[in-house]
Amino acid sequence: MTYDELRSKYIAYFSSQGHTHIQGKSLIPENDPTVLFTTAGMHPLVPYLLGEEHPGGKRLTNYQKCIRTGDIEEVGDPSHLTFFEMLGNWSLGDYFKEEAIKMSFEFLTSPEWLGIPIEKLGVTVFEGDQDAPRDEESAQVWRSLGIPEERIRFLPKKDNWWGPAGNTGPCGPDTEMFFDMGQEACGPDCGPGCPCGKWLEIWNDVFMMYNKNAQGKYEPLERKCVDTGMGIERTITVLNGYNSVYETEIFKPIMLAAEKATGYVYGSESEKDKSQRILCDHVRSAVMILGDPRGVSPSNLGAGYVLRRLIRRAIRHSRKLSPDHSSSLMEPISEAVIEVLSHVYPELSENRNRIAEELAREEKKFLETLQKGEQEFEKLLPNVLKNPNRIMSGRLAFKLYDTYGFPVELTEELAAEHGLKVNREEFEEAFKKHQELSRAGGEAFKGGLQDNSEMVTKYHTATHLLHAALRKVLGDHAAQKGSNITAERLRFDFSHGEAMTKEEIKAVEDLVNEQIGLDLPVTMEVMDRETAQALGALALFGEKYEDQVKVYAVGPGKDRIAKEGNVSLELCGGPHVERTGLLGKFSIQKEQSSSAGVRRIRAVLLSQ
Ligand code: ALA
Repeated sequence: MTYDELRSKYIAYFSSQGHTHIQGKSLIPENDPTVLFTTAGMHPLVPYLLGEEHPGGKRLTNYQKCIRTGDIEEVGDPSHLTFFEMLGNWSLGDYFKEEAIKMSFEFLTSPEWLGIPIEKLGVTVFEGDQDAPRDEESAQVWRSLGIPEERIRFLPKKDNWWGPAGNTGPCGPDTEMFFDMGQEACGPDCGPGCPCGKWLEIWNDVFMMYNKNAQGKYEPLERKCVDTGMGIERTITVLNGYNSVYETEIFKPIMLAAEKATGYVYGSESEKDKSQRILCDHVRSAVMILGDPRGVSPSNLGAGYVLRRLIRRAIRHSRKLSPDHSSSLMEPISEAVIEVLSHVYPELSENRNRIAEELAREEKKFLETLQKGEQEFEKLLPNVLKNPNRIMSGRLAFKLYDTYGFPVELTEELAAEHGLKVNREEFEEAFKKHQELSRAGGEAFKGGLQDNSEMVTKYHTATHLLHAALRKVLGDHAAQKGSNITAERLRFDFSHGEAMTKEEIKAVEDLVNEQIGLDLPVTMEVMDRETAQALGALALFGEKYEDQVKVYAVGPGKDRIAKEGNVSLELCGGPHVERTGLLGKFSIQKEQSSSAGVRRIRAVLLSQ
């Protein structure tokens, strides 16, 4: 089965079961302070899983691009990827365990759909603990469908529980579906869920029935939901009898481009094979992030830092395959990624130039870093060589990392060339200390869920007022390019060619405060996309919207949802406050450049 067939079959099957096909969202979540990337199809749906009505109804299906770097160390094995596509179906208070499992089973095994032989399938279910009971109900459904007892395993929370991705939010037990890859069991306890490689997870049905609160308690959700996710790359692998995702049509052209660029022949040496897989995975993720409509640039913070780390890791592995290359390796590999994926994600070909430029810039910068780091290493070397233990201190390795961005693995490689070892424990200690001090480190790799707290809600509304004020003061070209909200502040990126003057900043601030002072009402209506566009509601350029959208208006307009007479009219997921008077005093803290032609404002709301 081809990559395209699988996607369309999934959507067709769930549409035939009454699900609305909704658009996948950007890889960079809008207005979600707790995640850097969309890590699962459920992320953009959190407000709906918590009870909000979705314009598409109670049954939804889609495919969603996802980035996960939590298990980046596993990448290079046959199945872990940092970017992957997830097929999903959701029940928002509609069907629950039995129907969800039966649909999953039918889609997997029916000859009309995937036709996987039942003998190849195994499942895991939640074994129960102090927070939630053993999931006998799901196991019973699987038994009734013909999955034998020995291929139904009960596992603890660490395996069979999903969410919340952050500290609080919807979560629940899940049941995971595995494909038997055919190799020998690794031991008597080997079964679905065993990490030895025999059982490959392809799908997960999550039964969202709790909300984990700030006290760590699992409160039952009023409306039970289902959240499922099937990995496209893995499913294509097993359907075509391959052993790894890199053999599929999704990766093959990228692997060939890598071979051509590095000159390394895949299959010659196992360590180098792994480097080639990491290289291809990471370039693919970097291209998807750079090509996203809300594409970020490599930087030292947040999503930009993750992107930088992916690109630099890719380059480091490319050097293992081709140590002396002088021309760009990134470009031909990234071109292959665009070729494979742009018919599904046309934004990739639209952003082809940006992707190439950013990759080339980062590659150049990193190669300079490497050169500088190597020079510094040479300077440190004579002293280290005096050490009778032939051990280089972890603090020195950390200094190279911290000052020059020189990766510790490279320090280790250079050290090994001189018969030296690096004290890795000491390095990790110094690194950890640094991470605690800097938000840019480990935090950057964590997931999380949306924060619908009161302050975040206020900042959403303040963002609409700011957007409208910027257009009024600077002109209509000042269009939103990005937005990020935490409970402490809002950040807003917009197109504008030069720095704002002091007067312009003050005029924008005053305008927003004036509208807060007027205590204007905020109104929402759900309507179809065309109607919203015809009304002149602002939308984010390049963003895909559902057929049914929410439109928020702020202002005293006679017709509540209209441009005329109102301050702002925007397509938006919300949430928003009911009146602007609730916002407090609006204050712009900083106006700076974000990227070429894009400015960034940070602003806060102060209590009056
Ligand atoms: N949200 C679930 C997962 O990512 C489906 O596995």
